[in-house]
Amino acid sequence: MTSDFVDVRVLDNFYQTSSFYPMPVILITTIAEDGTTNLGPYSLVFPFGIADKHAMMLISRSDSNTANNIRRTKKAMLNFIPFDKKLLKNIVRLGFPGQTAEEKLDDSIFTLIQPEQEISNGPVPDVIEEAVQVFECIWDDSEAFHYFGTTDESHFLLRINRIMMKKNWYESLVNGDGKFPSLPVDYGYRDSQYFWFSEPKKPYKEPLPKGKGVNIDTVRYQADRIDPEIYWTDEACAKIVAIPRVFLKKAMTMIVEEAKKRGITTLTPEIMDEIRDKRNQEKKLR
Ligand SMILES: Cc1cc2nc3c(=O)[nH]c(=O)nc-3n(C[C@H](O)[C@H](O)[C@H](O)COP(=O)(O)O)c2cc1C
Repeated sequence: MTSDFVDVRVLDNFYQTSSFYPMPVILITTIAEDGTTNLGPYSLVFPFGIADKHAMMLISRSDSNTANNIRRTKKAMLNFIPFDKKLLKNIVRLGFPGQTAEEKLDDSIFTLIQPEQEISNGPVPDVIEEAVQVFECIWDDSEAFHYFGTTDESHFLLRINRIMMKKNWYESLVNGDGKFPSLPVDYGYRDSQYFWFSEPKKPYKEPLPKGKGVNIDTVRYQADRIDPEIYWTDEACAKIVAIPRVFLKKAMTMIVEEAKKRGITTLTPEIMDEIRDKRNQEKKLR
């Protein structure tokens, strides 16, 4: 059999030197030793725990300002920067190692704002006004992450404490109106001269294949375990088979909570419609 594949040598930083690897563009804000905000651009920031323990994994060179600040304060804000060439130009400038937090602030065109504080457990880093969404994270150093490579790179398991989102994008998220923020894709530092980003296009939708993914047995399995006081009819289970698996438990928990509030013990499709209508009305009121 012939094939068009050729072997690529796996080099250090293989994600940018030996492959095409699409990554997000995140400006991490942390608190510097003198109390100012440090701005560090990062792309190796990925979901690490998605069910129950919600966490991101950050890979940083061990002596970056960001790494030092996280080790000292445990706090980091992950600011997702929208596609805007002016902002990306500045991101690349801020990605040059060796500058202090203060020097970077002078260089930065980003607007820093103090987030509304949820709990008063000391100062939190400023967030970037231009960001689409911000993950407020706490470093979990209790969960030992055993890395097998060089000590030049550090791995931080960042627990997501909360997600802050611009109101218009929040509306799109909860209403599922098909609008998405324009977020750049970073292809990295590929040729010792340039950073490469790509401009996102409007996402399109592809229907889920019928009979694949979540099936009624998966829903039944969850339904029998979520709450012993609430019985789900088969028709009620069938109604939510299209929900992607990662969201299923959360969606079912919300339905059960609402049913309990109403003193309902058997979930039928009609009751689920009522619950959905009520939720939709609540969304419109927000
Ligand atoms: C778009 C972009 C993405 C980057 N991603 C990473 C990354 O994931 N990990 C890393 O160690 N450095 C990354 N860098 C390089 C850091 O930004 C650079 O080391 C910088 O000095 C870090 O700033 P800090 O020392 O203030 O944390 C990236 C740079 C740019 C421009």
